[in-house]
Amino acid sequence: MKILAIETSCDDTGISIIKTKGAKNPSFDVLSNIVSSQIEIHKKYGGVYPMLAKREHQNNLVPTLEKTLKTANLLKISKKQITNSQTDILKEILNKESNLYENLKNFLEKYEKPDVNLIAVTQGPGLEPCLWAGVNFAKALSFFWNIPVVPINHIESHILVNYLKNETINFPAVCLVVSGGHTQLILMKGIGKYKILGETRDDAAGECFDKAAKILGLGYPGGPMISKLAPKNEKKESFIPRPMIGTKDYDFSFSGLKTAILYHHKKQSVKTQKSKEYIIKMCGEIQQAIIDVLIKKTIKAAKDYKTKTIILGGGVSANQELRKQLAEKIKKDIPNTKYLIPDTALSTDNALMIAIAGYFHRTKTESWRKLGAKANLRIG
Ligand code: KG4
Ligand code: ZN
Repeated sequence: MKILAIETSCDDTGISIIKTKGAKNPSFDVLSNIVSSQIEIHKKYGGVYPMLAKREHQNNLVPTLEKTLKTANLLKISKKQITNSQTDILKEILNKESNLYENLKNFLEKYEKPDVNLIAVTQGPGLEPCLWAGVNFAKALSFFWNIPVVPINHIESHILVNYLKNETINFPAVCLVVSGGHTQLILMKGIGKYKILGETRDDAAGECFDKAAKILGLGYPGGPMISKLAPKNEKKESFIPRPMIGTKDYDFSFSGLKTAILYHHKKQSVKTQKSKEYIIKMCGEIQQAIIDVLIKKTIKAAKDYKTKTIILGGGVSANQELRKQLAEKIKKDIPNTKYLIPDTALSTDNALMIAIAGYFHRTKTESWRKLGAKANLRIG
């Protein structure tokens, strides 16, 4: 089967197409995976503004779809006219996506229905206006092409992307999903069987990277910049606290870390604040403080629940030191535990992970009329 997937939960417009083979042990051919990043736009403001991101999704969705279908060799010119009743329904579905309506109408008039069996779309969690752009787009395509649509949980897709390379997940598994919006430790007993063991009580780990980078004047997004500048193997303790590292639960807290960084930074002279040496040292210490807490709680959960697999996912899992240090710790403390992480390019938001989740939930389609975005959707 061919699955077309759409991801717009934050600031990346992603569209992907996969072809799946076999039902029991499925294999996935990636026909196309396009991500239109909005980083250049949000950089100017030092963060993502939901309404600005929504407008960009509206502008990006049709060109990204065209590019995705073309790459997958599924774009065919059509000569059919859109009927008045079709136009009316499209207008109604896209009444809050005015920028999208004209673009999509022209596109649907120009091209034939592609050879695709299922549409998968991120339903949540995420930035509400952004989610709606993708969901309304999926609804319009589902209606016009008469292709069923399945709603996808973004957090779950960060976990299920590990199936791309035919990996087996031995259950129970513990999943650490760390992104700009979420930091959750999830117990996974099977596909669709999740329990949140713990999560951040305030800022997400990615948010902490982003805010720390802003304090240091490193621009947005902060995670990639801090990890690029941080020295390798900076494992020593520093003035930066490790909030909740010793608590018995599986929760996290990162807002105190940001405050400590801010106070420390303000105490420095302007000359120090601008010096390369200071910035590099700070990046190493910030990164290590976040890594220490993430690893400690993940290993604790894995031991407590005697899990057979540890899965790392979400944007922050692109961090090389986190990947490496977690691998070392697993090897040392729980060597029989399998460790799965996606390629770094698939750690941050993309639609390929939505397509794979779409495959596993292919029977849970919903009528396009009823489908809606759910900004606070929870896993489990
Ligand atoms: O999963 P994602 O692409 O979007 C959300 O669902 O939030 O995650 C984006 C987050 C940002 O906070 C970004 O700073 C962080 O992931 N990130 C990183 C790295 N690459 C991206 N954090 C640390 N190190 C990285 N290399
Ligand atoms: Zn994400």
